[in-house]
Amino acid sequence: MSLKRIALRAGAAIVALVVLVVAAVFLIFPRVSSAPELKVETTPELVARGSYLFNSQFACGACHTPEMEPHRFSRVADEARIGAGRHMGGVPDFPTDVYAPNLTPTALGDWTDGELYRAIVSGVDRDGKPLFPVMPYPFYKSLDPQDVKAVIAYIRSLPPQPITMPRTKLPMPLPIFMRLVPADATPQTRPDGKDEVALGKYLAFTSSCFECHTKRNERGEPTGTPFAGGNPFGLPGGAMAISANITPDNETGIGGWSREEFIARFRSRNAEADARITPSGHDFDTEMPWSYFAGMTDADLGAIYAYLRTVPPIDSKVTLFTPASEK
Ligand code: HEC
Ligand code: HEC
Repeated sequence: MSLKRIALRAGAAIVALVVLVVAAVFLIFPRVSSAPELKVETTPELVARGSYLFNSQFACGACHTPEMEPHRFSRVADEARIGAGRHMGGVPDFPTDVYAPNLTPTALGDWTDGELYRAIVSGVDRDGKPLFPVMPYPFYKSLDPQDVKAVIAYIRSLPPQPITMPRTKLPMPLPIFMRLVPADATPQTRPDGKDEVALGKYLAFTSSCFECHTKRNERGEPTGTPFAGGNPFGLPGGAMAISANITPDNETGIGGWSREEFIARFRSRNAEADARITPSGHDFDTEMPWSYFAGMTDADLGAIYAYLRTVPPIDSKVTLFTPASEK
């Protein structure tokens, strides 16, 4: 056999193998169980708890609620359109176009509670199609079922918003990789406040602190030192925010901050205050949804602080903001 023929055959075999692997991924994944049989018994207390979780602790609204227009500091929520969905734009360096869907009864009215539950913790829509993991379901899979049920009760109580959000567009090969991400939930019990560090850890991972404050690769997987920051976020106007080092390093992290200072930083960034600031792309702006987290209780913020004191201090200086280049 000539060398050319061998090369051709090898080439054909490789193509056939790739086609087979891709076909197998499409057939086998996402591998998640069917939606659970579930009926969330809605009570006013559960809805109130869900509102706290959705609008403060998990900051679901930071993605799923449109921001006030024009853009305000830290993406302040348009309170009249909670859960209506938001065009989130692209992931840097990828021709993606991400939309956080409308979660109000207009869009999800026909979903069962079980389908909604599975979407939040396992990352597939009601038809079992995978969700792009910008939606933090890889972290929500370990949520306490009581927290998920409260969020569902709240979502069910939202006023309908007659908006049809387009679906997210992703280039190849992302739709293939994405099929591997959804997984069955591995629920844990939300630690009670007696073990502050355990509660703080639960919150730091499920409230996206870890996700934003740890460097990630282009597939969004955390690859950096936990909580050492350095993730860039594009902002309206072309500026860039870079997540802070929140490890207890004295010089470059938050080692020098007292618990009171930590909580006060969150309180100073409430929606009302931030709504008055309209950054131009040249003055300080951020992707961190301070106005959402500002609504967290002292107990929850204090627990996060207590947990962050226990992670290894990392000496790594971050410049938190780079303005839009002068035109
Ligand atoms: C960082 C942004 C972000 C956060 C925070 C977030 N989501 Fe999402 N969510 C998304 C995006 C983006 C999608 C759509 C993914 C896609 O199109 O593949 C989505 C999809 C969903 C879906 C599926 C809806 C559908 O029509 O397919 C549900 C349900 C959902 N999110 C609920 C929640 C809840 C509840 C929370 C808080 C506990 C939350 N999300 C937090 C970005 C986010
Ligand atoms: C969507 C991404 C995102 C999320 C979620 C997020 N952060 Fe941030 N964070 C940032 C960015 C970007 C900065 C830098 C700009 C600024 O100060 O807002 C920052 C800054 C901070 C700072 C200020 C540090 C300093 O040196 O001034 C603290 C403290 C902080 N984050 C803690 C947290 C905690 C705790 C959570 C979870 C409850 C969290 N962040 C969630 C992106 C995020």
